[in-house]
Amino acid sequence: MIYAANFKTNQTRKSTRQYIEELNVKLCTKDVRDKIYIFPPFTALDNYEGNFTIGAQNAYPVHNGAFTGEIGVEQLDEFGIKTILIGHSERREYMAETQEKVAQKCAFFQAQGFEIIYCIGEPLSIREKGFEPVMEYLLAQFEGIDIHYDKLVVAYEPIWAIGTGRSATAEEISATHSALKKVINDTPLLYGGSVKPANIKEITSIAGVDGVLVGSASLDADSFSQMVLS
Ligand code: PGA
Repeated sequence: MIYAANFKTNQTRKSTRQYIEELNVKLCTKDVRDKIYIFPPFTALDNYEGNFTIGAQNAYPVHNGAFTGEIGVEQLDEFGIKTILIGHSERREYMAETQEKVAQKCAFFQAQGFEIIYCIGEPLSIREKGFEPVMEYLLAQFEGIDIHYDKLVVAYEPIWAIGTGRSATAEEISATHSALKKVINDTPLLYGGSVKPANIKEITSIAGVDGVLVGSASLDADSFSQMVLS
């Protein structure tokens, strides 16, 4: 199983360090076959010790240069970061990242050998139209993406389930994941959207779910470690 914590615009450098210390204590007995990722905000990126991988929530697809307010590979290299989250719905929506831009970003970081957690997900208006429109919408988010890249992980996150407390049902997750798996084959597929200690077991036991991408419930080290240890 893969457990990924996306802090979004939460935590500081100080609180991230405390979080990691707490997590290390709680997870010291954990089976190392599980893979844990932590995506702190840029200002908390650092070399942390532990049985997890630190990734960037975003970066600009350049090595360095004149791109005010952005960071590139040079800044990630300083902390040995080779993992990046791309295509999160919040970036697509609030930062107006188009599919074309997202695909360019994936191609750039793939060329740099990064591990990419690539997010897709449909809005409620599409989900309400039925399963076929959902799949059509999701498959369009693979446009320009090398879905067979060996360091790619896909995260399916229905937008209506993100931060709402209302996760997709087991049936919805199961149907969507099995349809996506037919396309991406062996590429790991995570579910994200209101995953929490109360529903982690149900979600990770669904066929086609290789792990979870967690926002709100990952902010507390105790809650995140409960999920990892579940
Ligand atoms: P959530 O966020 O767990 O708060 O719903 C998930 C995500 O956006 O990755």
